[in-house]
Amino acid sequence: MNKHYDFIIHSGRVVTQGGIVEVDIGVIGGKVSALGDLSTASAPERFDADGLHVLPGVIDTQVHFREPGLEHKEDLITGTAGAVLGGVTCIFEMPNTNPSTLGEEDLADKLARACGRAWCDHAFFIGAAAENAGDLARLEQLPGCAGIKVFMGSSTGSLLVEDDTTLRAVLENGSRRIAIHSEDESRLCERRHLVEKKGATVHLHPQWRDVETSLLSTRRLLALARETGRRVHILHVTTAEEMEVLGVHRDIASVEVTPQHLTLSAPDCYDRLGTLAQMNPPIREARHRRALWQAVDEGIVDVVGSDHAPHTLEEKAQSYPASPSGMTGVQTLLPLLLDHMNAGRLSLKRLVDLTSAGAARIYNMEGKGHIAPGFDADFTLVDLKAERVISNDWIASKVCWTPFNGMTVRGWAVATIIRGCVVMREDEILGDPCGKPVSFVEGP
Ligand code: DOR
Repeated sequence: MNKHYDFIIHSGRVVTQGGIVEVDIGVIGGKVSALGDLSTASAPERFDADGLHVLPGVIDTQVHFREPGLEHKEDLITGTAGAVLGGVTCIFEMPNTNPSTLGEEDLADKLARACGRAWCDHAFFIGAAAENAGDLARLEQLPGCAGIKVFMGSSTGSLLVEDDTTLRAVLENGSRRIAIHSEDESRLCERRHLVEKKGATVHLHPQWRDVETSLLSTRRLLALARETGRRVHILHVTTAEEMEVLGVHRDIASVEVTPQHLTLSAPDCYDRLGTLAQMNPPIREARHRRALWQAVDEGIVDVVGSDHAPHTLEEKAQSYPASPSGMTGVQTLLPLLLDHMNAGRLSLKRLVDLTSAGAARIYNMEGKGHIAPGFDADFTLVDLKAERVISNDWIASKVCWTPFNGMTVRGWAVATIIRGCVVMREDEILGDPCGKPVSFVEGP
């Protein structure tokens, strides 16, 4: 029978849960309808993926797109443009905007701003604070909400839950997995004097925000997560010591690492990049980077998120510690990981788990994370052999810089397809912004 599809991707090496198979993909109504030999099927639109790998669309579960309030750094148009140029089909955006995303109206405002302007699918976190702790169980169920985000240590913005009493109240109110920035605020305050002395440079950043700052906070969090029975997701884990602890708490705590913590190390990154390498929690010495890779290898890490957190070059040029923390990353997440894969640091199967299936699993996303019939037709088509130089002029972010400027990488996204629409091909964005809010299925 000559079946009809809306769109067919021909001859790609498709990364499925069962392995890598050379099949065609038929799409109907934005969803995968069939995998197989579709050479006799008809479709108004086709994509020849011969020689390319077809990955489930990459999901970046930690980005700061700065809208509203900080649009001189980024907005939802430029942020999501960077996403699709880097092969990302879906993002979860963080609540430390201005105003912070604390309530139903703030979330509705972000969803309205994204409508017709976002190039990729999206969900927004609501920030936890003492003032909304009692309402979080309701707020986390709102459509378009990625979940609740807690800053245990202060970073960019004013969101903070520093004491155990408020943190317990936050954990007790709700049931979805809760995302945590884990640095201990009181230790940060105690040690702030280390960077306030004359002549302080960014090299001191990992000493101020030291291993103990992260470890202490993560231990406190794990104890409260056990006590309250709440699942937690610890964002951008940076230390060998935390990974050791997290390895025995897999049932309750999932783990994110960032590409920059897997790629850069101190002191070299501060020598070369100065405050461009400044972020929270910090880039640390090579022994931590090794431990992060070991944790990737051992299955302790669930997702890689970029923590895309743009600041302008002028802001970054302020002398440390006035310089803000954060760097761009949504566009470079996949090229960096493909390069690491080509260098033998992880398999393609593991890369796919960390960039799509893992996010879908820990956040219970509906219809995302796999290439299988019934799932959304979100694909990232990659040329594993392409050698390219990452450069600032490729970066779509408003701030126009990446700490990886000038780096040659092997492996590149050549097309980004969202619910059957080609939104990026050969470094060009196509059509109109078609991003939609994603849905979640509640589960254990
Ligand atoms: O370095 C960081 N910058 N870490 C964070 O947690 C926040 C982010 C930002 O929003 O600038």
